[in-house]
Amino acid sequence: MSDIIIAIDGHSATGKSSTAKKVAKHLGYIYLDSGAMYRATTLYFLNNKIILASIDQIQKALNKIDIEFRKDKNGLPLTFLNGKNVEDKIRTMEISSKVSGVSAIKAVRVAMVEQQRKLGEHKGIVMDGRDIGSVVFPNAELKIFMTASANVRAERRQKELAEKGQTVPFKEILKNVVDRDEQDSTRKESPLIKVDDAIEIDNSNMSFEEQVNQIIELAESKITADV
Ligand code: CDP
Repeated sequence: MSDIIIAIDGHSATGKSSTAKKVAKHLGYIYLDSGAMYRATTLYFLNNKIILASIDQIQKALNKIDIEFRKDKNGLPLTFLNGKNVEDKIRTMEISSKVSGVSAIKAVRVAMVEQQRKLGEHKGIVMDGRDIGSVVFPNAELKIFMTASANVRAERRQKELAEKGQTVPFKEILKNVVDRDEQDSTRKESPLIKVDDAIEIDNSNMSFEEQVNQIIELAESKITADV
């Protein structure tokens, strides 16, 4: 049985990360949250007051950024930026409101994509993001495009944030979700698109288990077909 690459792209707050984590665990694959890398980069830029219009500052900053994923005691990945656990810091509304501006910068994308490709070179990986099936791994054996209504997504994100102790008004979350989709889909560099060979899953009316099982089934049929 040969390992495959599973690319899960889609709109913001569609549950890509939680789904990808579950699928990876089931298959014994590596999971990589590419959005966490853009979020960590955004945090670094903010902390170091990097001016986004200065390509020189951006390039120097990118050379100083080291992002890695370490597992917590339950085996779940935590994002580390230059040796520090930033998992909670990168999930705030402040970062969510700035990340699409940072991820639209070509130099940032080049640096992230290079690392993502290295991490996937041996296959056996589930990666979620916006350009995984289109740019990072155009030859991925299974490509999923996840979407759901904006209201449903904002409700889910509000619940997720509340569980982490962040109380954010629904309207603010909804605006962020819609704005980010717009920015991510209309940017010049690697915009979010549904590629022709991606399978679209609208999970507005699906349970989490249903969507996980659907992707596992699709993956298993690809893995068997690939023998
Ligand atoms: O989890 P959520 O859907 O809120 O977003 P995320 O996956 O954490 O990604 C945060 C942001 O990073 C996105 O809105 C994109 O601007 C950017 N991103 C990207 O440009 N390319 C990727 N492969 C992944 C994320």
